[in-house]
Amino acid sequence: MAEFVDVVRRRRMTRAFEPRPVPLETLAEIVDLASRAPSAGKAQGFHLVVLDGDRTSEFWDITLPVMRRGTFKWQRLLDAPLIALPFADPKAYTDRYAEPDKAGTGLGAGAQAWPAPYWTIDASMAVMTMLLAAEDLGLGALFFGVFKGERELRQHLGVPPGPELLGALAIGYPTDPTDPSAPLPRDGAYAKGRSASRARRTPGEIIHHGHW
Ligand SMILES: Cc1cc2nc3c(=O)[nH]c(=O)nc-3n(C[C@H](O)[C@H](O)[C@H](O)COP(=O)(O)O)c2cc1C
Repeated sequence: MAEFVDVVRRRRMTRAFEPRPVPLETLAEIVDLASRAPSAGKAQGFHLVVLDGDRTSEFWDITLPVMRRGTFKWQRLLDAPLIALPFADPKAYTDRYAEPDKAGTGLGAGAQAWPAPYWTIDASMAVMTMLLAAEDLGLGALFFGVFKGERELRQHLGVPPGPELLGALAIGYPTDPTDPSAPLPRDGAYAKGRSASRARRTPGEIIHHGHW
């Protein structure tokens, strides 16, 4: 296991995978760590629908139809052995905040009463923990948007109305996108995205001391 700072510095989104399966115990280890992420009122309205092995094709068939696949930039993303779909359930929060110790907040009234969607915030923290846990275990992962086919995907996977889909997580063993026998890049960037060359903002640019 690596030091925390090394894991954070090394993690990069992975867009090229070996087809080698991720053992389900490894996924459970990652999710166990994610279950320790902060959660408002400890409501924990975070769910993952997982497709692995041959079943990952069900995700791609719906979100990236075969006709568009030939021109898809990240061909080896399609080799990811595991796709996990993170959902945030607002009802877990409105129910929790209607309980006696939280009722005074008025947030039990419904999702519209919330100034910020704590379910999305919690689920995002859990996803971040998953990305770091995957890195720590020598795996790679990509969080990416589901821009097409969400309705069909929900129906296909039996997702009830309510839980909100954040996006998708591809998890697996990283590989060089062009040459699987090549040594893996040291910076951990496997198939860099278009945004990768943008400069990372410095703490000085992020911190507003005392006033915006
Ligand atoms: C909310 C969110 C959505 C993203 N969507 C995509 C996506 O659809 N496709 C993609 O290739 N990368 C996606 N990314 C990855 C970002 O491009 C990436 O995190 C950013 O360029 C910084 O690179 P790094 O995470 O490898 O350091 C997404 C990241 C986040 C946090």
